[in-house]
Formats: sequence, C-alpha cells, structure tokens
Amino acid sequence: MPIMNWDQTLDIGVEAMNSDHRDILDAMNTIFDAHQAGQTGDAINKLVAKLGDVCIRHFSDEEEFMLKTNYPALNTHKIIHKQLLENYTKHAEAIKTAGGKANDDFFGFLKRWLVAHIKGIDIKYATHANATPERKAS
Ligand SMILES: [Fe+2]
Ligand SMILES: [Fe+2]
Repeated sequence: MPIMNWDQTLDIGVEAMNSDHRDILDAMNTIFDAHQAGQTGDAINKLVAKLGDVCIRHFSDEEEFMLKTNYPALNTHKIIHKQLLENYTKHAEAIKTAGGKANDDFFGFLKRWLVAHIKGIDIKYATHANATPERKAS
C-alpha cells in the first residue's frame, strides 16, 4: 500500500513539475512497499539512492524552470533544495548504517517535506509563471 498518493491538492499548475513530483512520490512509495515487505540491506539502500537521484534531477529541472520564467526568489528556493538534499543524505546514511533498514523517521520526513515544499514553496514559482502567460515555459 502506498504511503502517499497523488491528489489534486498537490497540483501546482505546471504539468512538467507535477510529473516530476509524481515520480518522487512513486519512488518513495516503492521504498515504503519494500520496507513493509520486510526488505533490508542493499535492496533498500539502492532504492533510497534512487529516490535521491530523482530528487536531484527534479531540483535541477525546477531551478532551470524558475530561471526561464524569471522567478525572483530563485536563490532562496535553491538554498531550500540544498538543505533538503543535505537532510536526505543524513537519512540515507543513517539507513545504511542500520544495515539498509528504513524507519518511520525517514518516511515521516519525506511526507512532511513533500507536502510542505510542494504546497508552500513550489506553488509560489508556479503561480508566478502562470500569472504572466509570456513567462510560462512551454
Ligand atoms: Fe522546489
Ligand atoms: Fe518541486
């Protein structure tokens, strides 16, 4: 069972970024399912590393989108992404140290982060981009 499903409340109005966010959710649910099925070790460590890669790619896509649409708070958003990745790395290392055993702390962090970041932070660049049609990236 997925830990979290995509729903309309996560729709920021920029389809390419919505699609990335769905990829992040999928990768998180895959780890959760493997964890629920009792998997540990390399299997989990690899899935955790994969989600990290999906996030790195998404943050880079998102930063490019913000640049293209002249989003004024790009630098602050970049700092928030950097901090998220640092926190993610800490969780990934803790899981590795525990022999590839994921934990509630990790899943709680992911859920809180996804909801708060998408609804509170990402929505701002999307609203900015959609406010002026010529800024809207194709
Ligand atoms: Fe973001
Ligand atoms: Fe995002």
